[in-house]
Amino acid sequence: MEHYFTNNQDLKSEIREINFSYDAYNFMFKSDNGVFSKNKVDYASLFLVKTFFANNERSYNKILDIGCGYGFIGIVLSKVLKQHVSMCDINKRAVHLCKINADLNEVDVDVFISDIYENVEDKYDLIITNPPIRAGKEVLINFIKGGLARLNKDGEIWFVISKDKGAKSLKKELEKDYTCHLVGRSKGFWVIRAKN
Ligand SMILES: C[S@@+](CC[C@H](N)C(=O)[O-])C[C@H]1O[C@@H](n2cnc3c(N)ncnc32)[C@H](O)[C@@H]1O
Repeated sequence: MEHYFTNNQDLKSEIREINFSYDAYNFMFKSDNGVFSKNKVDYASLFLVKTFFANNERSYNKILDIGCGYGFIGIVLSKVLKQHVSMCDINKRAVHLCKINADLNEVDVDVFISDIYENVEDKYDLIITNPPIRAGKEVLINFIKGGLARLNKDGEIWFVISKDKGAKSLKKELEKDYTCHLVGRSKGFWVIRAKN
């Protein structure tokens, strides 16, 4: 079975458009076969973004959206916060779409291919992600713990995860070494904010 992150470039291209509004901002995203949630903004990603805006009380200098897909999270953050966001994904088609979507939505981002943090050279004040649960527990742990290792002092990672797909055990594991807060829950999804 082909997963959305397997980089199958032979997969027929069928570009579609996703329209989305947040506050006074209107976004348009191009999407395609072979990328995550190709037909609509993913519920968990939207919940993460809304929870972030509703609960975050501070500013962040350097921001990374890891596992950016066609770009929903990072592009909305860049537009609303009016600041630069770095974005990466292992999926070449997603990265290509994300670059197109950044131009379409006129945001200041840089987008690159990376297997988890392989090509991530900088450290960040905020890492935000809807991690790929279907890629397995090891990838999930690397997304989150690898993120915690790439935070500047006082940096934070915000992520969304399904309660039934490891949220409880992951939170418990993170709490051994990190400060970890459950910021929001909706329809079985948890938004977690963690820092060193
Ligand atoms: C749940 S999706 C979220 C996509 C996007 N952020 C959104 O909100 O629509 C997870 C993303 O992680 C990417 N991914 C999977 N394995 C990865 C890896 N090893 N390194 C980097 N990204 C990966 C997938 O290609 C996918 O785009």
